[in-house]
Parts: sequence; C-alpha cells; structure tokens
Amino acid sequence: MVQSPLNYTGGKYRLLPQILPLFPERIDTFVDLFCGGCNVGINVKANRYVYNDISEALIGVFSVMRRTERDRFVNRVQEIIDEYGLSDVKTNGYAFYGCNSADGLSAYNREPFFRLRADVNASAVHDDPYYIKLYVLILYAFNNQIRFNANGEFNLPPGKRDFNQKMYEKLCRFIDLLQAQQAVFSNRPFTEVGLEKLGEEDFVYADPPYLITCASYNEKGGWTERDEYDLLRVLDSLTKRHIRFALSNVLEAKGRVNTILSEWLRERPEYRMVELRFTYNNASYQRQNKEKRTREILVLNYDQGDSR
Ligand SMILES: C[S@@+](CC[C@H](N)C(=O)[O-])C[C@H]1O[C@@H](n2cnc3c(N)ncnc32)[C@H](O)[C@@H]1O
Repeated sequence: MVQSPLNYTGGKYRLLPQILPLFPERIDTFVDLFCGGCNVGINVKANRYVYNDISEALIGVFSVMRRTERDRFVNRVQEIIDEYGLSDVKTNGYAFYGCNSADGLSAYNREPFFRLRADVNASAVHDDPYYIKLYVLILYAFNNQIRFNANGEFNLPPGKRDFNQKMYEKLCRFIDLLQAQQAVFSNRPFTEVGLEKLGEEDFVYADPPYLITCASYNEKGGWTERDEYDLLRVLDSLTKRHIRFALSNVLEAKGRVNTILSEWLRERPEYRMVELRFTYNNASYQRQNKEKRTREILVLNYDQGDSR
C-alpha cells in the first residue's frame, strides 16, 4: 500500500485494508471527490482518475508532483533545503545537528523554517516553484501537516522530523505511481465537479469533512449542514443514474450523532452500511475513549458481486 507524502488530517491510509476490498473490482473512471492527501485514489486500480479537493494548496502541490519529472522534483526539494539551511538527517545524521531522534529537529530548524514560511506566505504568485517550496514547508512543519489561517497564511510551527530517508522513499513511490496513472486534478467545491459525464462503469468515492468531528478544513463553517444535505443529494442522484459510490463518514463520535446522516440512511434501506473497526493504534487512547464510541462507516449503493 502506498502512503501519501502528506500526513493529511483525516487521511484514510490506516483504513485502506478495510475500505479497498469493498470497492468494485472493475472501475473505468475513479472520482476521489474529496481527495485530501490522495491516500485512497493512489491505491485504487482504475483506467482513469479524477482527484478533486477544494484546497488550492493540496491540488497545487499534487499537480506539480504529477507533471514534474520525479528526480527533478526531488532535486529541487533538496536545493531548497540547502538554500535555507534546514537539517538533512538522511545525509548527516542527528548528531551533526546536536539533536537526537527522540527530541527531534524542531529547535535546530526553527530559524530557517520561519524564514521559509515567511517567504511562502509572502509569495503572490502560485506557480510550480511556489508549490515545491510549500511542499518543503509541509515536510518540516509540525507533524507534516497543512494549515492556513483566515488570511491564507501557513501557520504551523516546525516539526520534529525532516526530509529523512523514509519520507524520501515515500515521496518517490508516490510520484512514480501518480505519474503512471491517467489522472486529472480538479480544485472545485464538490457540487461543481462534472459528475454528469460519468457512466455505469465509473465509481465515486466521497470522503467529506465530518460534521461532528474536528479538522482544520471544517473549522469556522468550512463544512456545514447545508453541505451535508447537498452531498447526500448528489449521492442519491448518482444512484438514480446507476453510478456506484462509496461514502466514508462518522456516524457517532464522543457522544455526538450525525442525525442528518442517520436519518438519510434510515430512509434508504437499499444502501449498505459497513462499520469500520476503530483504527487508533494508541491503546491508552482506546481505553480512555471506550465509552465515547466513534462509529466510522462506509456506505455503498452497490452489491459486491456487481460485475460490470
Ligand atoms: C476527510 S478529508 C479527505 C481525506 C482523504 N480521503 C485522504 O485519505 O487523505 C476531506 C477533504 O475534503 C476537502 N473539502 C472540504 N470541503 C470541500 C468541498 N466543499 N468540496 C470539495 N472538497 C472539500 C478538504 O479540503 C479535505 O481535504
């Protein structure tokens, strides 16, 4: 299984062993309507791929990865690291920077990281060089995550890790696979993605922000009840046209229930709901949250045996 080179909040990498076997065997066009870190599409077998997300930053970074020759992309990443004087543990080891793996590199990288962050935030032009710089910023950011404030400025602090061997390998594997796919990227709200061209051989995967959990992309009205209703309407219209879909969502979390979703499911017994197993790998988190159950689900509008 290939992992995204972005550690994306809400990324489905850990759930893939449960999700992928439920997908159709044969897919002509695979639409990842809320692609996020692209963890799902990159592991699906299809003839064509459409990756959509409302985040300009994500789609910008992935589009550059898609169209830049892999070694050129990696070399440019390395040049930016050297230019700013960021750490390079895969070449020099931790001791060279007076750090160790447990404490990490954030103290060492603080000054160059903030310099790079200021340059990225000051950039008015969002061209290929900008997106590669943004990717380096994400590589050195807290938990390799992406987060912008209301003014569109990247606002995470430096993280513990750098462009280490593991990350280098992850990036190369991802770019190679992405470039082997016949893929297009789209940066639109899901309601404006051209699903009307799809046919019965195609498949739509929807992994929207979850109404009842937190992530930076659904803060401050980023995902509203209206979006939830609009999405459920889009999914129903796919069913009417015999187009298969799978919807990931959270039905219940920390005592909150997504009543819009549960009502919708109750009224549609023809849809199949599969409960996914809890995937936090942290045993103490699981113990503490036992009574605050998280019900992560996948909803399908097709039979597994469907062999179109
Ligand atoms: C749960 S994440 C997807 C994670 C992804 N499946 C993965 O494995 O990395 C949800 C994504 O929906 C995107 N999003 C939020 N509102 C959207 C909208 N109205 N239209 C399209 N994408 C949207 C967010 O930017 C975020 O990347």
